[in-house]
Amino acid sequence: MADRSTPALKLTDVSKAFGGLSAVDRVSLVVGAGERRVIIGPNGAGKTTLFSLISGEQPLTDGRIELFGRDVTRLPPHRRAALGLARTYQITNLFPKLTVLANCLLAVQGLASSKLHLHRPMERYTDHFARARSVLDAVGLRDREGDEVRTLSHGEQRQLEIGLAMAGSPRLLLLDEPTAGLAPAESQLMTALLKRLDPEITILMIEHDMDVAFEVTDRVTVLHYGRVVADGYASEVKANPLVQEIYLGAE
Ligand SMILES: Nc1ncnc2c1ncn2[C@@H]1O[C@H](COP(=O)(O)OP(=O)(O)OP(=O)(O)O)[C@@H](O)[C@H]1O
Ligand SMILES: [Mg+2]
Repeated sequence: MADRSTPALKLTDVSKAFGGLSAVDRVSLVVGAGERRVIIGPNGAGKTTLFSLISGEQPLTDGRIELFGRDVTRLPPHRRAALGLARTYQITNLFPKLTVLANCLLAVQGLASSKLHLHRPMERYTDHFARARSVLDAVGLRDREGDEVRTLSHGEQRQLEIGLAMAGSPRLLLLDEPTAGLAPAESQLMTALLKRLDPEITILMIEHDMDVAFEVTDRVTVLHYGRVVADGYASEVKANPLVQEIYLGAE
C-alpha cells in the first residue's frame, strides 16, 4: 500500500538552463500519492524537459527532487526507476520488427536485471512471461501479443508504450502526450485505458488535448516559459484569465 501522507513527487525550485535559455525556471510542485495530475502549457514551455529532470535523464541546474520522500536529486535514472518511477516519451520508442510480447519481455527483463534476484533462472523466466502478459492485459493488447509491432496501428503502439512503462510495476508514471497524433477514436480508447489503470499508481501527464486531460486527471499545473503560472482543480484553472490568455488563446 502506498503511504498516502508522503507525496509521490516533490519538486523544490527546480531549474534547467540550456545556455542562456531558462527551459525550466524554479518549478515547485507536489504530487500526492495516488493523484492524477496534468501539466499543460504551450509548445516550448519546458514540459518535456521537466520530465527529463524528474527521471534523471538530464541533470538539473538548480533545485531539489524528492520521490516518495527520498532526495533523488543526484541519483542516476536507473536508481530512480528502482524507486518506482517510469516514463513514456513524446515520440514512439518501440522495436518495430519484434513482436508485441518480445517488446514487453525486454522491458520486464531490463528492469528486473537491475534489481537483486534470488530466484532460480527458470522461475524468473516464467515470472517474466506472466508479468509481460498481465501488462498486455492492462493495456488491452493481449490478443496482439504475437504480432510484430510495426503491424499495430499508431494508437495500439501508444498503448503498448504505456504497457512497457508499466512493466516494472511503477508507483509513479510520467506520460508525455499519450494521445499525440491519435485519431479521435484512438484517443478515446487511450483515455479509457488510462482511467482503468490501478488507482494506486500516481500519474503525472503532459497532455495537449483538454478533453483527455480533464477526464483522466483531477488537477492541473500550467507551465509557461518554464514557470508554473497556475495550479489547481480543472474548473479553477480553466476560469483563470491568465491561463485563458496564454494557453487556450495560444491554441
Ligand atoms: N537539449 C536541449 N538543448 C537546448 N535547448 C533545449 C533542449 N531541450 C529543450 N530545449 C529547449 O527548451 C525549451 C523547452 O523545451 P521542451 O521540449 O521541454 O518543451 P515542451 O513544453 O515539452 O514543448 P512541446 O509542447 O512542444 O513538446 C524549448 O525552448 C526547447 O527548444
Ligand atoms: Mg514536449
